[in-house]
Amino acid sequence: MENFRFLVEDDINKIEKHLGGLFNITNDVLNDLNVFLMGNSKRIRSLIALLYLKANEKNISESVINILSAGEIIHNASLLHDDVIDNAEYRRGSVTISNKFNSEISVLSGDFLLSYAVNYLIGVEHKDILNLFINATRLMSEAEIEQYIKRNNDIKIQEYLQIIYGKTASLFETILMSCAIITNLDVEKAGEFGKLFGLLFQINNDMSEDSIKNDKINGVKTSVDIAGIEKTNDLKDNYKEKMRAILEKMPDNDYKMALKDLVNSL
Ligand code: FPP
Ligand code: MG
Repeated sequence: MENFRFLVEDDINKIEKHLGGLFNITNDVLNDLNVFLMGNSKRIRSLIALLYLKANEKNISESVINILSAGEIIHNASLLHDDVIDNAEYRRGSVTISNKFNSEISVLSGDFLLSYAVNYLIGVEHKDILNLFINATRLMSEAEIEQYIKRNNDIKIQEYLQIIYGKTASLFETILMSCAIITNLDVEKAGEFGKLFGLLFQINNDMSEDSIKNDKINGVKTSVDIAGIEKTNDLKDNYKEKMRAILEKMPDNDYKMALKDLVNSL
């Protein structure tokens, strides 16, 4: 999936420079937090947004880089909380902060990161964008509460889709909408593209071997448990078609081709 990173490498590097230089103090926890932030991430949210903007012939401004930096920070903060909730031992091939230190440190590290995301968002100076991100973090937490409460229950596919929209797709949607606002693109269309990508991304994550094992331990029901493999694939195809329809209307270039390939790979 990260094969297309070279198309937007310079911009991803700018985001990584932000992420790598966040803290002006050091201690044992922050050193590890820095390693976690910089290690082995696909930066998939930024990658999709950058490809989408470039496919639509938009320049990548400082504001876009700030929006994407905030998106990556919020995502990483949510993982530090998620690994506590899921009792996860490993993340991105390394021992989790909650495993290496403890749950308290992991939760506090997530809180600590969130303050930096707010800083970047305030720097963008756009009230609608700030509101979108506030709404996304609310939806993420709400969905995690919902998922937790419904552990070990038989849930309907609509309930599952609402949960993965909240916990994963809403942030993709917000990032794409914010990028569209700042570059004068169709905000609704960009949001739809981000949302569909996020839904497919989470459905695939839930179908991976590691996730199946951990979800079983935690009593989390996912699409294949609820609807079976065939209906899950039908649902995925339906989302992909909607994404292709959005791509169809965009100018032909390498960035659009990359997005098309990414959709096919989902
Ligand atoms: C991963 O799900 C988790 C998320 C996508 C969202 C987690 C959100 C919270 C814990 C709410 C707190 C939010 C903020 C902004 C601090 P997963 O467990 O299915 O995926 P995994 O296999 O990658 O762990
Ligand atoms: Mg998890």
